[in-house]
Amino acid sequence: MIPHSRPSIEADEIRAVVDVLRSRQLAQGALVEQFERGMAAYFGLPGGVAVTSGTAALEVALRTLGIGPGDEVVLPSYVCAAPLLAIQRVGAMPRLVDIDLDTFNMDSSAAQRALTSKTKALIVPHLFGLPADLTELERLGVPIIEDCAQTLGAMERGRSVGSVGLLTVCSFYATKLLCAGEGGMVLSRDESLLERARRLREYDETPSLRPWATNFKMTDLQAALGVAQLNRLASFLDRRKWLAQEYRAAVNSSALVQPIVPADRTHAYYRFVVRLPNPSKGPDGLHDLIARFEARGIQCRKPVFRSLHRYLELEGFPSSEEAERTAMSIPLYPSLTEEEEAQIHVALRSEWP
Ligand SMILES: Cc1ncc(COP(=O)(O)O)c(C=O)c1O
Repeated sequence: MIPHSRPSIEADEIRAVVDVLRSRQLAQGALVEQFERGMAAYFGLPGGVAVTSGTAALEVALRTLGIGPGDEVVLPSYVCAAPLLAIQRVGAMPRLVDIDLDTFNMDSSAAQRALTSKTKALIVPHLFGLPADLTELERLGVPIIEDCAQTLGAMERGRSVGSVGLLTVCSFYATKLLCAGEGGMVLSRDESLLERARRLREYDETPSLRPWATNFKMTDLQAALGVAQLNRLASFLDRRKWLAQEYRAAVNSSALVQPIVPADRTHAYYRFVVRLPNPSKGPDGLHDLIARFEARGIQCRKPVFRSLHRYLELEGFPSSEEAERTAMSIPLYPSLTEEEEAQIHVALRSEWP
């Protein structure tokens, strides 16, 4: 079975991790700092604060902005649970908004309607590798936390994702564009916010006990992996783009809706997500399609497990629901072998509804 995701680990990564083991300096140290500097340079920002996961990075970002009980944070409904959980952990109120079905990203007019006098931030995920409409979202005049867990290196109106928001968060989970096994980072152009985030990462050696504090620190083992992956990130992204072009050519004549890339943006293809053209066929149509690929040895997935409004038992999110009923993610990652790629191509040409 071709797995839906698989990290690209080669000699450089293995050597880097073994070197850390040999050094006996395993916990947060010089390599974490090197990884922070490398990621910050990648985004053109002055610094970053490495933490244990993308979820932790979201929580640290919210606490860095002083967001807590009585505050509201706007986020899209069609995304993994991490942003919602981070908002709930700091005691703030999540304000879910629907997505733009074409891009799977937050609908900026829905975000505008969700603003109140209590809104303190927008969490803006760039889903599946495609930047959200940052320009329209910036016009709302609310601090933006860019969630780059799924997107690196993509552009919106000539600006790189991660360089626009007041804070940016990353995830380095095993199957992300750049992996460290687990891990996350908070980045900013504002040095005072970085300093605050750095202090929030620590649970010990603080003047007073903070009941919510926990261990958010990354290890040098993870950072070594992250640094090695960062050195290969450009080639990873090139390979993803090339694969996406090949997939597009293969499914061109099918009825499936291919990933849409607005003229003002580029796509990093963290996921290659197609949609069933006829929502009335889902969810059975979607399950059927996933099963047909599985029968050919290709593991496809619903790219978002469950829209967040369904956890909160809210109504009025038609685009999130349609995405949930009709979207399917096809394996696309740099470590695909030529044989696997050929197998996927054959399936793409023959399996569509
Ligand atoms: C958009 C988004 N934000 C945040 C996260 C959380 O990252 P992590 O799994 O590193 O906690 C994920 C993880 O999948 C994600 O996709």
